Amino acid sequence: AGSGLADRFGRTATDLRVSLTDRCNLRCNYCMPAEGLPFLDRKATMSRDEIVRLVRIAVTGLGVRQVRFTGGEPLLRKDLAEIIADCAALEPRPEISLTTNAIGLELRVAALAAAGLDRINVSLDSVHAETFAEITRRPFLDKVLRGIQASADAGLAVKINAVLLPGVNDHQAPDLLEWCLERGHQLRFIEQMPLDADHVWDRERMLTAAQIRERLGERFELRPHDAPRDGAPAELFEAWQGERMRGLVGVIASVTEPFCGDCRRTRLTAEGGVRSCLFSHEETDLLGLLRGDGTDAQIADRWRDAMWAKPAAHGMERPGLGDAGFVQPDRPMSAIGG
Ligand code: GTP
Ligand code: 5AD
Ligand code: SF4
Repeated sequence: AGSGLADRFGRTATDLRVSLTDRCNLRCNYCMPAEGLPFLDRKATMSRDEIVRLVRIAVTGLGVRQVRFTGGEPLLRKDLAEIIADCAALEPRPEISLTTNAIGLELRVAALAAAGLDRINVSLDSVHAETFAEITRRPFLDKVLRGIQASADAGLAVKINAVLLPGVNDHQAPDLLEWCLERGHQLRFIEQMPLDADHVWDRERMLTAAQIRERLGERFELRPHDAPRDGAPAELFEAWQGERMRGLVGVIASVTEPFCGDCRRTRLTAEGGVRSCLFSHEETDLLGLLRGDGTDAQIADRWRDAMWAKPAAHGMERPGLGDAGFVQPDRPMSAIGG
């Protein structure tokens, strides 16, 4: 054995996303039902030491160079700063980032940055309090905005992720972009994907990347940004107003313009399973092996085998979605880790 996380289609995963918990303190309607979900028992989720051991195996033995912590909501882990510090001490040191809803971030971000956090992506679908509460089912906009400000104050590069929902916040897209440009945060709009717990996603109701660009066109002129995309999910545009280039904006067109051919991601669920793809129907348990005294080499081998079986692509873009071709995974985004 030896070597990295290659698959049958010529891709190699160097970007690891670790879900630290399946719990969340928001209830975004494109992700979780209002009443929440049957959450995992805490003993079933990875401990700090187990997370760090798996990240160490990935970084030292499998060629992983970037680690992103996600959830659920990763800030719900009290030991997040310790997990980050342990991972930042690994050789070679991975780049460490976080995808969060920013609730409670204000008071913790300085410690996270000191522990070794390099970058942060915050989910924010609206800067209007009523719309924010309508989508997330919680009245916490102010907390999120304070968390974003504190992150910038701590010297972290902040990216904002937004999902647009027709008739809810799509008309606010230019406002959200204006808000981000004024503060120097890179905003990315994400096409809504069929990863909601309620399985109500509808290809006919989602906003496509083309429609998102059209909405932004009401106030900004989008020009292609001329830099190698390098496997990143977001296609970047320059947002111009008159003769002024205001900054960059990204569109993540997972559904209509999929980028599976360039995918470099491998994922760990909160209970220590490998998901080779967001839309996998299988997970490969590593935590059981680890708890059963598996060796680093055995764990690495099982991880490689799981990634070798990674599907070529999700197939969502094919017409007839919902019947043939594509089957939505049972797990919603909150349980997979965005
Ligand atoms: P950076 O650009 O390095 O900051 O990473 P990122 O864009 O992967 O980070 P983030 O966690 O903020 O992801 C943004 C969104 O991209 C996610 O919420 C997903 O909607 C989408 N995304 C991330 N990974 C995948 C993937 O593997 N497949 C698809 N189809 N979409 C993904
Ligand atoms: N489609 C697209 N993006 C989603 N997210 C959560 N659920 C979905 C979905 N069904 C996004 C969140 C957050 C990131 C982790 O994933 O808005 O930015
Ligand atoms: Fe990668 Fe799967 Fe996402 Fe496609 S859908 S980009 S293969 S994780």
